[in-house]
Amino acid sequence: MAKVAIDGMVQEARPDELLIDLINRAGVSIPHVCYHPQLGPVQTCDTCMVEVNGRFVRACATEVADGMKIFTKSAKASAAQTEAFDRILSNHLLYCTVCDNNNGNCTVHNTTKMLAIEHQRIPFRSKPYEVDNTNPFYRYDPDQCILCGRCVEACQNVEVNETLSINWEDPNPRVLWDGGSTIGESSCVSCGHCVTVCPCNALMEKTMLGHAGFLTSLKKSALSGMIDVVKGVEPETGYGSILQVSEAESAMREHRIRKTKTVCTYCGVGCTFDVWTKDRHILKVAPEHGPANGISTCVKGKFGWGHINSDDRLTTPLIREGDKFRQASWDEALNLVANKLSELKTKDGPDSIAFISSSKCTNEESYLMQKLARAVIGTNNVDNCSRYCQSPATQGLFRTVGYGGDSGSISDMEKADLVLIIGSNTAESHPVIATRVKSAHKLDGQKLIVSDLREHEMARRADLFLHPKPGTDLFWLNAISRYLLDNGLAHTKFLDQWVNGLDDYRKSLEPFTMEAASQISGVPEETLKTVAHMIAEAKAMCILWAMGVTQHTQGSDTSTAISNLLLVSGNYMRPGTGAYPLRGHNNVQGASDHGSMPNMLPGYQSVNDPEVRQRFETVWKAKLPSTKGLDNHQMVEAIHGGKLKAMYLIGEEMSIVDSNANYVGDAFAKLDFFVVQDIFFSNTCRYADVVLPGAPSLEKEGTFTSTERRIQRLYEVLEPLEGCRPDWKIIQDVANRLGAGWHYQHPSEVMDEIASLTPMFAGVTYERLAGYKSLQWPVAADGTDEPLLYAKRFAFPDGKARLFPVSWIGPTDQPDSQFDLHLNNGRLLEHFHEGNLTYRTEGIREKTPDTFVEVSPELAEERGIQSGTWVQLVSRYGQVRVRAVVTDRVQGRELYMPMNSVESPVNRLTSSHTDPVTNTPAYKEASVHMNVLAEVGENPLPRKNSRFGHPTPQNGVEVERKWKRPDYAPPGNGLVQIQTNK
Ligand code: SF4
Ligand code: SF4
Ligand code: SF4
Ligand code: FES
Repeated sequence: MAKVAIDGMVQEARPDELLIDLINRAGVSIPHVCYHPQLGPVQTCDTCMVEVNGRFVRACATEVADGMKIFTKSAKASAAQTEAFDRILSNHLLYCTVCDNNNGNCTVHNTTKMLAIEHQRIPFRSKPYEVDNTNPFYRYDPDQCILCGRCVEACQNVEVNETLSINWEDPNPRVLWDGGSTIGESSCVSCGHCVTVCPCNALMEKTMLGHAGFLTSLKKSALSGMIDVVKGVEPETGYGSILQVSEAESAMREHRIRKTKTVCTYCGVGCTFDVWTKDRHILKVAPEHGPANGISTCVKGKFGWGHINSDDRLTTPLIREGDKFRQASWDEALNLVANKLSELKTKDGPDSIAFISSSKCTNEESYLMQKLARAVIGTNNVDNCSRYCQSPATQGLFRTVGYGGDSGSISDMEKADLVLIIGSNTAESHPVIATRVKSAHKLDGQKLIVSDLREHEMARRADLFLHPKPGTDLFWLNAISRYLLDNGLAHTKFLDQWVNGLDDYRKSLEPFTMEAASQISGVPEETLKTVAHMIAEAKAMCILWAMGVTQHTQGSDTSTAISNLLLVSGNYMRPGTGAYPLRGHNNVQGASDHGSMPNMLPGYQSVNDPEVRQRFETVWKAKLPSTKGLDNHQMVEAIHGGKLKAMYLIGEEMSIVDSNANYVGDAFAKLDFFVVQDIFFSNTCRYADVVLPGAPSLEKEGTFTSTERRIQRLYEVLEPLEGCRPDWKIIQDVANRLGAGWHYQHPSEVMDEIASLTPMFAGVTYERLAGYKSLQWPVAADGTDEPLLYAKRFAFPDGKARLFPVSWIGPTDQPDSQFDLHLNNGRLLEHFHEGNLTYRTEGIREKTPDTFVEVSPELAEERGIQSGTWVQLVSRYGQVRVRAVVTDRVQGRELYMPMNSVESPVNRLTSSHTDPVTNTPAYKEASVHMNVLAEVGENPLPRKNSRFGHPTPQNGVEVERKWKRPDYAPPGNGLVQIQTNK
């Protein structure tokens, strides 16, 4: 530790600590406008000047050194700070009382007050630019922009979308999108990073404008008048009294603006943020303290909340009458559900009923759903949608390392010096994780290898991009493992100490030569060897994979091959290493963790282990079934086979998202009794007998578990819309009508019960998860969690990992002369899955109104297709009509269709083939025939979609260019221009 003196006060500090952090930690107040701890030194504002050993430095860009004498309030330092801030104010029209950003956290306002600025010495100078309103979610007001560059730094180096810059050389610098485009037509992906970090009102969420303040909804003319009045009195009164008025107004806002922490409802990254609300109006989403995301979000988490107050929310239970539905009271609907389930249980037995939990719902709700199935009905027929995506990855990890979850944290992905991404469009499917990889790659020299069918953003950024033939990943992965072992490149010390099964595994690799791998996958042998050497040379490697791997007939085996490769190369047990199957839904990890699986009780405890069952039976006071139940896929088959008569499904659009959707729909039509609980009348509701209106994440409490096994609390942001109920309450209502006698008053009581029955969650309590606190399972009884799994041992009895041999079978549903094109599918950044939630946000609909099929330029030329041409895709299972987008993201005879459509869902084309180990559908193995229709429509991707933009990559805000301006001189004499690598 270094010892330094701040204004005569001795402080201990880490030698690499920035002065600004130390000064803040010591509770000494100094201005610092452009500095943000999550951005590091931006160095544009000069307001943080301090005197150190007689010289001026920027506190935000100077590292602590032993013996430093720092003066923050010397006459010279104060003069320099004030001079720097005067320059800032010349860029900003102060009208706090009528400003929507007057919420107590405006850096410009607070610094004006801190420095007791009474008069603006450098007059405000309007910039010759219009306000840019062209983005649906936020606007930029150049006249309010203080040119601090935080937004640029966030966009360039945190989000790494590289849209923003400042034209420092211009007589009137401003923030630029794509070097000078409008925001709406730029490459901006509306992630909101820039808006979140803007220290004033220059960038603001449109949902704030005219809503946050008491006077801000006034007409523009009235507002301008008021601003003129304030400016008029300023010379006489000074800013002090004007600020007092605005602070009184700001204090009044505190009573009507609520700020409530929640967890994002979309993907599995687990972003957390405060939601600001005024009554039911969502003012903004404010990310800052989230352990997974900090200031980061993507467009969905930051702006995609239109579903909450959508006019078509379900607000009353519905009961089918013939072909129609009628509204019903809760009592009538719940009694009907209980009576019918009870009747069918008596008539056809408990196994004639099945339950599907939602991976959008909370852990507590998943737990209650499987408890209802097992303890009240008496069946293990319970599953969740991880069957559609994640089960193969879980299986691969169960086989090799013991736990079915990411082996480390997002921070490990940042620390790795090599990241290998297989079958994951991370920048669109897990955007905030992608930011961390993109940033480490851009700034810290991390190497990146991407294997995918499509040349998406991560592929374009990669040091090496492999494009194997569809469904051949297992082969080339095994070949690389063999090459490492054969050529002395494997981590033998690690294998000797920590891994069982090497001999059998080596034998199993016999067919997997580099030559054969190249033939099967189409990837040149030299490229595969380069990959092998990059892996061998990397000190720490993480492998990230997703549905491009798991949704194949060999999804489990390919996931196993990935984990085997990590073992062979010694990439477990250390920071910066490990296996990262990226979980799709916000709580798909938690839905399985909490027992919504046909063979596992909560915490992956087997249903056929008598000891485990007895523990649950004692607490649940019920006899539990011991044989494995039906999974989702088997449920559909069992309905067709006449064995399954009733289903209770929560929050899953199964008739669209299950593969071979026509077949699934036909099954639902055959059910004797079907209960669907959702927040909208989904396509699946069309088959229901009873529809129950549940509540979205913002209207309830509970916990979600993200991809990095992080359990986080969500709080009630809004009361449930009148007529709706939180899903845990509805499940309890159904259970109690069936005689369960449950008395949960709050989800925390459910979590207490989970912890008492499940060793993996023994130490999980709501207190330990309060606010932004989180726990990464497994959690010991004393609350110790494990951000990095296997730090001491693998999760098998002997503590050793297991190499698990896998052989090659090859994909199904291959193209032939009739169905000659391969069809791939996946997510789109702006939408989540079929879009039931995201289409209800107007701005998202404006940017991405419809689905489409991506066609390669060469195929387009061959078939006479242009962007906007309508085509009919016909598979062995169904057909859809959709418009084409011609793009080099896809190659040759490979097509890609995003899954965001209820009208033309890609799953009308996919098959019922599955991975035999987990029954996960082989969604990614589909062949189609394409009929080109005579009609040409508009490009389904409108010009204002970010994909048409032209980013302007640069290293952050490039403040050196500002310092080179002839009119720039550092405030205060003798500033030492210190640069750090931070
Ligand atoms: S991508 Fe757009 S919203 Fe995101 S930081 Fe850049 S400019 Fe801002
Ligand atoms: S728009 Fe950017 S440069 Fe301007 S004040 Fe906001 S963060 Fe700073
Ligand atoms: S969708 Fe995923 S990446 Fe985007 S804000 Fe939500 S959790 Fe974060
Ligand atoms: S805080 Fe802006 S230069 Fe240091």
